[in-house]
Amino acid sequence: MNDFALEQSPTPAPRPLLYRPPAPVPLDTPLGPFGTMRVLRQNPIETWTKAHFQNPILMGQSVLGRVAVVSDPAAIRRVFIDNSTNYLKDSLQRRVLGEGLKEGLLVVQGADWRSQRRTLAPMFTPRTVASFARGTDDAARDLTTRWLRWREGRLIDLQPEMARVTLDVLGRTIFSDGLGRNPEEFTTATSRYFMTLGRLDPFDILDFPEWVPRLNRVGTRSALNFFEKAVQEIIERRKRLIAQDKAAAPRDLLTLLLEAQDPETGVGLSEGEVRANILTFIGAGHETTANALTWAIFLLSMSEEWRNRLAAEADAVLDGAVEDYADRLVETKAVLEEAMRLYPPVASMSRQAVGPDDLAGKRIRQDTLVIVSQWVLHRHHLLWDDPGAFDPRRFLPGAREKIDRFAYLPFGAGPRVCIGASFSLQEGVIILAHLMRAFTLTLKPGYEVKPVQRITLRPDGGLPMILRRRRRDLG
Ligand code: HEM
Repeated sequence: MNDFALEQSPTPAPRPLLYRPPAPVPLDTPLGPFGTMRVLRQNPIETWTKAHFQNPILMGQSVLGRVAVVSDPAAIRRVFIDNSTNYLKDSLQRRVLGEGLKEGLLVVQGADWRSQRRTLAPMFTPRTVASFARGTDDAARDLTTRWLRWREGRLIDLQPEMARVTLDVLGRTIFSDGLGRNPEEFTTATSRYFMTLGRLDPFDILDFPEWVPRLNRVGTRSALNFFEKAVQEIIERRKRLIAQDKAAAPRDLLTLLLEAQDPETGVGLSEGEVRANILTFIGAGHETTANALTWAIFLLSMSEEWRNRLAAEADAVLDGAVEDYADRLVETKAVLEEAMRLYPPVASMSRQAVGPDDLAGKRIRQDTLVIVSQWVLHRHHLLWDDPGAFDPRRFLPGAREKIDRFAYLPFGAGPRVCIGASFSLQEGVIILAHLMRAFTLTLKPGYEVKPVQRITLRPDGGLPMILRRRRRDLG
């Protein structure tokens, strides 16, 4: 009898002590309308209640109108795939992102979107993405060299450092012949632009007409002007080069954009669309990847085990064939994926129901705002074991395949899934491996880390870390 019982339920292996990183404590009850407005503006992830993390779907009425917060994988599949034509990118999202990205893939709708997606898809095939590994590796090596020059024990703010390197990668892959301007100036303007743009304006929430000036748009104007002018100059330079000698033009994203044609109609992108998509790639691809890296390094600073595992993996893999890095850096990728589970750079997505539907046993009325929040989904008690714990083993081969496709959505899903997902995973893995091989980063003692949701999820006030060399033989 005893033997049988033992065979049926072997003593589980002792669980290692897992780190539980900082997150706002979910509320017991929802905030009132004014409280919601205030917190939405300051930090939307602080509006979630305990019930959101425990229920497959929650219906409610809020300042945003009728809202359904959906965390049931089958219902999410219905929203993004099976009945996706019933769920359009909502006007709130388009208003917040609107301005400079208006004609870009992230924002356009309907036939324009379908045509742009077909036109841009060849730029993100596995083969094209693999061709960007070299530029990514060069950017990671340059960053390492720069840091190796710094004195031992220097205090750095990791967030802008990661923003800088991801912008460098985009620079090398979009405009491989250079930004033509001071990259530092570009990074500052990008950060300022998305910082102000990313804060929800009360006038947007209340659906005021477009012509009412938005409180927080004033600061974006000059950043936007800077961007548009810089990008325009680069496009013009490249067009002249292509006209003079096509073969001399680098095969980077800019040339691909200028040559791209819709495979169905043969029509290319207008100059405005090329510009908007460059801004879109920078906007959608730079801070998101930077934040994923920032959070991953923060989490690693709290786990000696994973730090050692990644450093050993990087020692073994780096300096081999660059094209194989993304496949061989298995544990590095697991840490990055776990970091994006706990701190999803895009913390929530929303869609407007154009007609009625049923989701997870609830009636969805026309015009309901359907919210799928990665912040909630990735920490949902029905979907994850010990959701608040940092445990990259979830994403190692053998376990990774068991995760429901619609329970983990850092890059979204369905037709509008992130076009840059594999680009950014490759980039994140390569940069993380280089940094883990060369350095040990520890959080500034006593610093309190707080996640805050702007457009992307970032550590409030940056991430001060102490930089030390791990390998003395590099650089
Ligand atoms: C860690 C990095 C990244 C994250 C977490 C991320 C996340 C996302 C998510 C969640 C969406 C879907 C939004 C929705 O359905 O409402 C999306 C769309 C998009 N992303 Fe990314 N992204 C990342 C990197 C990139 C990169 C590197 C690029 C380009 C170089 C990029 C370009 C885009 C574009 C153009 C779309 C719109 C696609 C469409 O509507 O057809 N992203 N991204």
